[in-house]
Amino acid sequence: MPGKTDSSTTGFEWRLLPEFSDLLNRLGPHGFRVWPAVPAELQLQLEVLRVDPEQEIVLIWSDNRLCGYAILLHERDIDRTVSAVAVTSGCTDRAGPLVDWVIERAASKNVSRIHIALRNTPVEPIKSLKERGFKRVTASLELTLDRADAAGLTDFPLPDGFSIRTMRSSAETLLLTRMQNTIFSKHWGFSKNTPEEIQARLDLPESGPEHVLFVESPDGSVAAYIWTALEWRDQHTGGKIWMTGVMPDFRRSGIGSSIVSAGVRHLLAEGVAQVHLEAVAHNAAAVRIYTQMGFKEAGRVEWYELEL
Ligand SMILES: CC(C)(COP(=O)(O)OP(=O)(O)OC[C@H]1O[C@@H](n2cnc3c(N)ncnc32)[C@H](O)[C@@H]1OP(=O)(O)O)[C@@H](O)C(=O)NCCC(=O)NCCS
Repeated sequence: MPGKTDSSTTGFEWRLLPEFSDLLNRLGPHGFRVWPAVPAELQLQLEVLRVDPEQEIVLIWSDNRLCGYAILLHERDIDRTVSAVAVTSGCTDRAGPLVDWVIERAASKNVSRIHIALRNTPVEPIKSLKERGFKRVTASLELTLDRADAAGLTDFPLPDGFSIRTMRSSAETLLLTRMQNTIFSKHWGFSKNTPEEIQARLDLPESGPEHVLFVESPDGSVAAYIWTALEWRDQHTGGKIWMTGVMPDFRRSGIGSSIVSAGVRHLLAEGVAQVHLEAVAHNAAAVRIYTQMGFKEAGRVEWYELEL
């Protein structure tokens, strides 16, 4: 059981997965992840995160029913812990102690800061965070593009000699890992991935190499990629742009717009009704690309930080 608990606070155990999944569904979208609706899919997501659920998730109960939780992911390479905390409307008085547990647990891991993402929903303990000194540091935009609005997607041609192809197979996992780590090295909140983590995500349903596109330069090196996925909710009617980027030497020549439009077309060809993604609000190039293609802001995720 993680840390200090009392009878109405327990650690996560795998046998509680169905109840935990039910809690997440009752809470609705919140925190740094929109969780899958079905327990089996939630289990797969929990397994690919850098988290040992039995150590890093705490659950709170009221009348033998779950009414809140907190989860932590420690990212040592960027010296932070990322957390989500949420409580149902009947348990708002338990939010403060949950945040205290997060602070205590992160401090015991010797990281310098905690980041908590809030989607500005009632289930999230904004007041408790502010009272404990958390400050808003940045925001991510939730952007969506409906199928009907994508019909007239302008063509964004690649520079001469460049071409797009699908990732060949897991034989290119190392290449994808290197690209992701290089492209995002200066990106806010990015923590480097190992090839094993990338492979685990490729192995998730509808997230594999067939949904990854590469841009090849005339000399055969890979200049850009987009990693899309079909959403598990609602019979795969949603499509997601999970990660995309252009290698530093190839930026500002139109490749970013081309790869994103190719990714959107790929998802539309798969039959999705809507494409969505999250982009850091201060990422001018990314926001420019998506708004140019007709993506609209559907929500905002505010990131709060506590220096330990
Ligand atoms: C975002 C990124 C993919 C853009 O790739 P790119 O190949 O440089 O983009 P393009 O050349 O197609 O430019 C697209 C638009 O963004 C603008 N743009 C590009 N870089 C910019 C910058 N640093 N600041 C402001 N605008 C910029 C371009 O002028 C162009 O707009 P225009 O059509 O009105 O002229 C690239 O910078 C990158 O990989 N960044 C790191 C990873 C990342 O942030 N990924 C997106 C996460 S959601």
